[in-house]
Formats: sequence, structure tokens, C-alpha cells
Amino acid sequence: MSLDGKIADAQRGAARFSSPADLAHLEAQVAAADGVLFGGGTLRAYGTTLSVRNPELLAQRRQRGQSDQPIQIVWSPSGHLNPKLRFFRQPVPRGLVTTSAGAEGWKTDQFQYIWTIPEDKTHPWDWVWVLAQLKQAGINTLALLGGGGLAADLLRCRCIHEVFITVCPLILGGTMAPTPVEGAGFLADLAPRLTLLSNQTVGDEVFLHYRVLSPA
Ligand SMILES: NC(=O)c1ccc[n+]([C@@H]2O[C@H](COP(=O)([O-])OP(=O)(O)OC[C@H]3O[C@@H](n4cnc5c(N)ncnc54)[C@H](OP(=O)(O)O)[C@@H]3O)[C@@H](O)[C@H]2O)c1
Repeated sequence: MSLDGKIADAQRGAARFSSPADLAHLEAQVAAADGVLFGGGTLRAYGTTLSVRNPELLAQRRQRGQSDQPIQIVWSPSGHLNPKLRFFRQPVPRGLVTTSAGAEGWKTDQFQYIWTIPEDKTHPWDWVWVLAQLKQAGINTLALLGGGGLAADLLRCRCIHEVFITVCPLILGGTMAPTPVEGAGFLADLAPRLTLLSNQTVGDEVFLHYRVLSPA
């Protein structure tokens, strides 16, 4: 995010303002996970996803008995995604978490895995239940790559355990630019609280790693 806490500019496009060091850090987090989860808004903004390419990270995955690429899972209740996006041609396993309407029309070469969530679990989304379904499919560690809409929903369900934030040296400003957590927000008394696990400075960026505390 920018120094003023924005994860994209006011046009809500892809955020490509971080350094190669941040991209390498992101790739390492992706490589550590069984699966990667991101929202439909993020896929529409980027059109692609980050695959693991670093040979050392690929070797570590093989040593751990993981497949070369984590499954890349999109959360899109509507399923309104453009099948022409480059994402659908990337050599990665793809999954979709959606509703029964959103699941319609997708082919197995586009999404190898589709989790159709029953209606009684989507008003609001019951992420504890959804993540249990992913776990049953062997996804024990999941990296959430944003955006703010999805992060807000998962935080609401207390489903985020750790947070990595890289503070980048630019100021985006504006009320239209998205932030790491969107949605209705939390009142301060009820807000998730975190403890700092590590901080590192590389060039002009600060890499922060927090653990989310369990509610009292
Ligand atoms: N700097 C970074 O590291 C970073 C990382 C990720 C994203 N971003 C930025 O974040 C922005 C995207 O974030 P975002 O918050 O817009 O999107 P998002 O969190 O990626 O996705 C939002 C999701 O919410 C769903 N949704 C929206 N309204 C809903 C409703 N009323 N009921 C149920 N579901 C609903 C959408 O579903 P549908 O698919 O059905 O519409 C969509 O899947 C982009 O600008 C991107 O560049 C930045």
C-alpha cells in the first residue's frame, strides 16, 4: 500500500507501484501456500495472477510435496468474469468460489475446481464454512491477495490469521482509492487487533508482518 494507506489509485486499476523486492516477497508468500484467494474486483483490475517462477521456491514446494503452483482461487458471487482474461491462459490450477448462478457456464479448462456455496451461507458469506470446504480439498494454507472487499469479509468472520503489508514510498490520496480493508468497517472497540511479528526496511519500503489476535 501507499504511505497513505491506498492499495490502488482512484481509477482502481492494477497496483504496480511496489519494488522488485516487494514482488519477490509476494512471490515467496504465494509459494508458501497451498492456495491463493483473491476477489473478482482484483482479477478484473489485473487480468492475471502471480505464479511461482523462482526456481528455488519451486524446488522448495517440490521438497514439501506440494504441486508446483498453488491453486489460484477467485471469489466472485456473480461469476461475471471475462473468460478472455490472460488469467485463463496462465499455466496454473484455477478455482472459483461462487453462487449457483455464478457457477453457470464455466468449463473445466477455465476452472478446474468450482465451489458452489449454498444460498444460506452467502447472506452474509460464511467464510468459516467456506474455508472448511477448501480445507477438505487439501488447501490448508491460503494466501489472501486482496482486494479490500474480500479482506473486509474475511476479517468480519475472523478468518485472517496473519497480515503482511509493504508500505511504499508514494502518496495516492483521494476518497475513491481503495484501501486494504473496505466494507462497512469496524468500530474501534470491536476492531481486530494485531501484534507485530517483524519489520524490515529495504530501500524506501517497509515490510511489516503482523499476527491477528484472537478476540477477547
Ligand atoms: N496493492 C495491492 O496489493 C492490491 C492487491 C489486490 C487488489 N488491489 C486493488 O484492489 C482493487 C480491487 O478491490 P475490490 O475491493 O474492489 O475487489 P475485491 O476485494 O478483489 O473483490 C470484491 C468482491 O466483492 C464481491 N462483491 C461486491 N459487492 C458484493 C455484494 N453486494 N455482495 C456480495 N459480493 C459482493 C465481488 O463479487 P463479483 O465478482 O460478483 O462482482 C468481488 O468478488 C483494485 O483496484 C486492485 O488493484 C490492490
